[in-house]
Amino acid sequence: MSIKIAPAKGKLGILTPGIGAVATTFMAGVEAVKKGLGEPVGSLTQLGTVRLGKRTDNRVPKIKDFVPLAGLNQLVFGGWDIFEDNAYEAAANARVLQPELLRKVKPNLQKIKPMKAVFDKNYVKRIDGPNVKTKGSLRDKAEELMVDMQTFKKSNGCDRLVMIWCGSTESFHKPAKVHQTLESFEKGLAKNDPDIAPSQVYAYAALMSGVPFANGAPNLTHDIPALLGLARDRSLPVCGKDFKTGQTYMKTLLAPGLKARMLGCNGWFSTNILGNRDGEVLEDPGSFKTKEETKLSVLDQILQPNLYPELYKDLYHAVRINYYPPRGDEKEGWDNIDIFGWLGYPMQIKIDFLCRDSILAAPLVLDLVLFLDLAHRAGMKGVQEWLSFYFKAPMTAPGLYPEHDIFIQLMKLKNTLRWMRGEDLITHLGLEYYD
Ligand SMILES: NC(=O)c1ccc[n+]([C@@H]2O[C@H](COP(=O)([O-])OP(=O)(O)OC[C@H]3O[C@@H](n4cnc5c(N)ncnc54)[C@H](O)[C@@H]3O)[C@@H](O)[C@H]2O)c1
Repeated sequence: MSIKIAPAKGKLGILTPGIGAVATTFMAGVEAVKKGLGEPVGSLTQLGTVRLGKRTDNRVPKIKDFVPLAGLNQLVFGGWDIFEDNAYEAAANARVLQPELLRKVKPNLQKIKPMKAVFDKNYVKRIDGPNVKTKGSLRDKAEELMVDMQTFKKSNGCDRLVMIWCGSTESFHKPAKVHQTLESFEKGLAKNDPDIAPSQVYAYAALMSGVPFANGAPNLTHDIPALLGLARDRSLPVCGKDFKTGQTYMKTLLAPGLKARMLGCNGWFSTNILGNRDGEVLEDPGSFKTKEETKLSVLDQILQPNLYPELYKDLYHAVRINYYPPRGDEKEGWDNIDIFGWLGYPMQIKIDFLCRDSILAAPLVLDLVLFLDLAHRAGMKGVQEWLSFYFKAPMTAPGLYPEHDIFIQLMKLKNTLRWMRGEDLITHLGLEYYD
């Protein structure tokens, strides 16, 4: 039996706190695809398929034809930033996309003017900007954000909204008392509790306004009991954290392969240089610590040293990120991996990934907003674990360890789509082909 999914009618407004490299590459990219100037490479919702039934059935529809997703022509963009640049200016500054391409989508991007941000320099130390809300308590600012959303929705004639955090990485902080219940959180907002980060004010405002929320950065944000409870109470789907793009994506491809063959690993040294604003923000030790935590968690969960001590108990795993302006968004990530095989004989793997950070992240933003909107229309609420595929530090139910293996994540995602449409789940057992 399939579940009831409301149709994807009308316009879907995508709101991004943060209109920087990732957000503008996403927005400009969607406009470029709509004009036939490029293909949505990297996007599962646009290019991916899902196999249905038996391998002999030949039923392999495109995902976008299988589940009712909003179409690209139905998307409208908006957001907040501490800088006043419109999305065209911000995209030009980010220097990800060619000026020639940007010029072709300039009229669409120029219209996207950042609303005034909720910002606190204690959480993002390396940057500061003038386009911020200054009056009142955090509670007043949350209410201003709610008004921003309503105004945006009305003036753009949107049927629904989705919010996705594309803002800078905030300083590392742990769940505190104020994060435990909605009541304590709201009291904290009223008295400007320093444990409430700006991203949490946006998440609160989104959920209070009935808007699903995703987090593309590693910040704590809505991964706290107060906001997860709010999401469930309001029947809203949420997901996070931290887009799985460059080096961590490579890790989650390679590490399951090593474990699958029972090959050992005693060292994994990852280092990066990048020169965009994200790199600048990550120079701050507090912001780097937030990133480091999510980047480090992946290998432990995949390799499971507790189950395979002879292979992974001595694994030394380090991650470094260095800000190196000449490279801009064109990050280079090196991995040196010390592995061992039969009788402990050592071998090495070297990866040198010359990637483009925002080119890898933009399709993930697109997929996430379309899938979150789908989940919302399908009545799914709380943490959407089937969207783990997109994250470095997937959110899970309390007490459940996250699944990091990208192939398990993909299977889970596609099985969730099959489940939504009442199709058989695929187990890959396949004995029936040999009966
Ligand atoms: N590009 C990738 O591959 C990738 C991968 C994983 C995670 N991320 C995360 O995505 C986020 C965006 O990355 P980016 O490269 O676009 O960075 P960016 O610096 O280009 O853009 C972030 C923008 O957020 C704005 N901002 C900061 N605090 C804000 C606030 N409180 N409200 C509104 N705006 C605020 C900044 O002014 C900036 O314009 C970062 O947190 C980054 O760590 C990026």
